[in-house]
Amino acid sequence: MSGGTHVNIDDAGLTLADPTAYADDQRLHAALSALRREDPVHLVDPLPEFNPFWAVTRHADVIEVERQHETFINEPRPILVSAAQDRYTAEHGRMLRTLVHIDDPEHKAMRSVVADWFRPRALREIEVDVRRLAKRSVDKMAELGGECDFAQEVAVDYPLYVILSLLGLPETDFPRILQLTQELFGSDDAELRRGRSPEELLQVLLDFFDYFNRITADRRANPTGDLASTIANARIDGEHLSDADVASQYVIIATAGHDTTSSTIAGGLQALMTYPGEMDRLRRFPGLIPSAVEEMIRWVTPVKEFMRTATTDYELGGKRIEAGESLLLCYPSANRDEAVFDDPFRFDVGRDPNRHLSFGFGAHVCLGATLARMEARALFAELVPRLQWVEPAGEPEWSDTTFVGGLKHLPLRYSIT
Ligand code: HEM
Repeated sequence: MSGGTHVNIDDAGLTLADPTAYADDQRLHAALSALRREDPVHLVDPLPEFNPFWAVTRHADVIEVERQHETFINEPRPILVSAAQDRYTAEHGRMLRTLVHIDDPEHKAMRSVVADWFRPRALREIEVDVRRLAKRSVDKMAELGGECDFAQEVAVDYPLYVILSLLGLPETDFPRILQLTQELFGSDDAELRRGRSPEELLQVLLDFFDYFNRITADRRANPTGDLASTIANARIDGEHLSDADVASQYVIIATAGHDTTSSTIAGGLQALMTYPGEMDRLRRFPGLIPSAVEEMIRWVTPVKEFMRTATTDYELGGKRIEAGESLLLCYPSANRDEAVFDDPFRFDVGRDPNRHLSFGFGAHVCLGATLARMEARALFAELVPRLQWVEPAGEPEWSDTTFVGGLKHLPLRYSIT
């Protein structure tokens, strides 16, 4: 699919603000290809539902914006939300101030609280646990007796279990956190959302805060050496983090580390089924698993966008961006940019180099990238040799979202050892 069909460029821009477009790869990529080709820095002005924004669709332009984190900042509009939500935040302030909502110098200080936990050396210590959880997930597929909804029954639990074990939270709480995560991140999708009004989203946040404030109190009284204890007991300029800042750290780790990775795993398996030659290659050459995982992350691009707002006038791709205007960094588009990827619409488990931007770039680059890679590699290292055959057992379905998402249903029939 090269997206070569004619698309009206204003319609293409509007597509980026339509959650249903992200559940329809063909429609999305037809729009993105047109934008890259004809107007790579395009003003999308879909009033009244959204405030206007510039869509940045080329790989090089996304990097140009992200590497200048003082010229292009995350506040006040880190992701695309409705104009009503933007207004509500401007009037009431933000309850959730996670790493993606803040800029330097605060961002640097907050990121350093947890950064050590996500470095390769620290993560090597939990690799055995990750492999154990990967094996448990594939064992579950075997127990399900040759038929399952892989997205719902396998891919969803595994990354959440990894991240919540790292945080040190009890397994009995996992279902509750899973539900809250999906309500928060899947809030464009009718099947997943509790509600979409600012008031309803606020209630989801309050539930989150309530849960994590209790954990903080406990870890301050009884530190245990887990990540939750590091967060609860961290000090910046000699002071403990406020309750809201502590809760925000938990929220970003629990949410960012979850749907992103499960979407990669489900979408990765779906891609291997769609291109059985690539599945065979992986069976014959298991050493390709790391590059296969990298390709899955490019292919799926679970995070659809982040936004930045210009602090000064700036010329990008021949367009004049004025101070105060927002730009949408369109990762699915950057990851199919013909200027960077040979044959970008080909799924190639041996792709090298693979300079995808699925983890973003610069000061806010994904903190969990090493962990996400480790999880997906462990899962496919366990799954590929054990899976004798696999075929669809129904239509796959993708979530409606403009932010984070991927397959929400992947019904499969299979034989597994
Ligand atoms: C930030 C993608 C997994 C934690 C981000 C960003 C992207 C991203 C695009 C924003 C980067 C930017 O603004 O330049 C992904 C993808 C994942 C994944 C595609 C899986 C395949 C994880 C995991 C964790 C995690 C497992 C574990 C905790 C974070 C955090 C941030 C972040 C804390 C905020 C960083 C900051 O603003 O400084 N991620 N992520 N992510 N991610 Fe991930």
